Amino acid sequence: MTKVAFLGLGVMGFPMAGYLAKNGHEVTVCNRTRAKAEAWVAKHGGKTADTPKAAVQGASIVFSCVGDDPDLRAITVGANGAFEGMAAGSIFVDHTTASANLARELYTTAAKKGIHFIDAPVSGGQAGAENGTLTVMCGGEAGPFEIAKPVIAHFAKAVTLLGPAGAGQLTKMVNQICIAGLLQGLAEGINFGLKAGLDMKQVLDVIGKGAAQSWQMDNRGKTMGDDQFDFGFAVDWMRKDLRICLEEAKKNGAALPVTEIINGYYGEVQKMGGGRWDTSSLIRRLGKN
Ligand SMILES: NC(=O)c1ccc[n+]([C@@H]2O[C@H](COP(=O)([O-])OP(=O)(O)OC[C@H]3O[C@@H](n4cnc5c(N)ncnc54)[C@H](OP(=O)(O)O)[C@@H]3O)[C@@H](O)[C@H]2O)c1
Repeated sequence: MTKVAFLGLGVMGFPMAGYLAKNGHEVTVCNRTRAKAEAWVAKHGGKTADTPKAAVQGASIVFSCVGDDPDLRAITVGANGAFEGMAAGSIFVDHTTASANLARELYTTAAKKGIHFIDAPVSGGQAGAENGTLTVMCGGEAGPFEIAKPVIAHFAKAVTLLGPAGAGQLTKMVNQICIAGLLQGLAEGINFGLKAGLDMKQVLDVIGKGAAQSWQMDNRGKTMGDDQFDFGFAVDWMRKDLRICLEEAKKNGAALPVTEIINGYYGEVQKMGGGRWDTSSLIRRLGKN
């Protein structure tokens, strides 16, 4: 049993932290909106703290899953941030999808205090967090990674170290680049099939057994056909992720022509009021054409 802290109890963090408690760890939670932390303790036990600094007292591993770079900066190096309260030798595991630059910067800042920082963004969505089956992509040093890995595994089906600080975030960028273009292809295929008068449930059952199969087709194809988007991974978050990808590509020189176009399409979905819709809502743009 390890004393741990979890910072950020949103759609993802709430169930992830729950798996730590269910597996016998002593968990202290902290969330910007306190009511979520209180709801978490009512469900799972453990303790709440008002600030990240207070939450991490005595913790050997600190987890976080907040929104974007500014949130991550605030909870680590901001006033009453986690790094002020963590002991030398303890490990910070960040599950936020953030920039690789910030991961590298926090790794260096943490190292000066003797704290180990691991960037560990996740894939698998809300269902993956709730079922404890996330895929976790890590960047950092092997020693602390091996200590954290079995604890992360309580809410993950795969936990992999891909390289030094920032490598986890870079891997997540590859993941998002692969998904963006694929979702537009799926949207165009389903829209085409509907316009052609096909029974798309039957079509997806058939082509989902062939070379067009994908996680998105299996998990989003039918709901796209039914025009349902009030769940899943929000367009606002995807735009944040694609912004991070496009910024990184400017630095490493990679061409991302399709990703750039899809980023613009998601901007249009936001203007349609779809910031909180699932990313499969790209198909709604096609109805306008
Ligand atoms: N949702 C998905 O399917 C999914 C999948 C893969 C990756 N991700 C990534 O995982 C991260 C979290 O996503 P999510 O869907 O869980 O977002 P979310 O529901 O908005 O949760 C973010 C949580 O962080 C808290 N927070 C933000 N700043 C904070 C601060 N300064 N101090 C303490 N708590 C703070 C928020 O508090 P409040 O309650 O005050 O807002 C909120 O509870 C994002 O980077 C996202 O891109 C999400």
